[in-house]
Amino acid sequence: MDTLMNFYNLLQARFFGPFKSGGEVVIVVHGGAGNTPDERIPAKLKGVKKAALEGYDVLRCGGTVVDAVEAAVKYLENDEHFNAGKGSVLNANGEVEMDASIMSGNCIEPGTVTVVKGIKNPVSLARRVLDKTPHIKLAGEGAHVFAKNEGIKIVDPGALVTGYAQELLELHKKGELSDCGKSDEPDTVGAVAVDCRGHVAAAASTGGCTGKLAGRCSSSTTASGVYADDNAGAVACTGHGESIIKFCLAHNIIQEMENGKTAEAATKQSLVKMHAKLKTRGGATAISTRGDVGIFFSTPKMVWAYVKGGRLHYGVKPGQHEIICFEKAK
Ligand code: GLY
Repeated sequence: MDTLMNFYNLLQARFFGPFKSGGEVVIVVHGGAGNTPDERIPAKLKGVKKAALEGYDVLRCGGTVVDAVEAAVKYLENDEHFNAGKGSVLNANGEVEMDASIMSGNCIEPGTVTVVKGIKNPVSLARRVLDKTPHIKLAGEGAHVFAKNEGIKIVDPGALVTGYAQELLELHKKGELSDCGKSDEPDTVGAVAVDCRGHVAAAASTGGCTGKLAGRCSSSTTASGVYADDNAGAVACTGHGESIIKFCLAHNIIQEMENGKTAEAATKQSLVKMHAKLKTRGGATAISTRGDVGIFFSTPKMVWAYVKGGRLHYGVKPGQHEIICFEKAK
């Protein structure tokens, strides 16, 4: 079946140009791949479901796909159960340093920020980089000045530090978490969306990995972690950042889709290959411009949710796929 779909996609791509999503709007959200302790799962599931519904509402009310993925990721940044915004993990100095990215598939335009402190919603700052500058990425102090000039909400950096992030840093110091991002701690959040004309967008936000050196940039601010192209689809990755960058994971998945693979087949194949080559794990959510959804993770868990066809879909463990009708989900 997958082979047939892939062949169909390939024909469409070659002869009819960019795919259309068949009039459907779809948004997919993930809350990070890892091995989140079971007791933290209900809050995370609630968060990704709400974030997906938030993004979907934006699309239903006439917002763009870029607006929708920003709204979904912003929701997760404000929820301290996720490693993004408030709830971000801590660097070796005990500080929150965050990265975020947003990308429009229209002309493959990204906006990213890296190593920012005290920014309540890094994804909205990345959006300003996309909308208001000729650049792709702003870092550190320059990004901070830009945020101030743009009226982006700045908070005391300490306000973003949670007790859970401090506990993780203590474990890291005792050697009870493995190397940066290879551990079971939760990771980057992300969202991808398609509108009824087949336009796509992707966004991600992260505190990176516990105990990272100050100044470390994550995969989420690169084309390896987040990618969107109206000729194929959009991808948001999570997992061991250094591997994701080396493997060019998001772009790899996009290329597979451009060559005719479904979002599902492309996502799975690329993550399996990354593991075979680098022995590291991760996850990704993808959407094709036709509106087909790909979700795969090689970690034990990844909370995800998407809204499509009036239904909310969600899951955590491999093979788990629950569906409820949209009105019940609200
Ligand atoms: N994937 C998240 C990171 O690079 O930290």
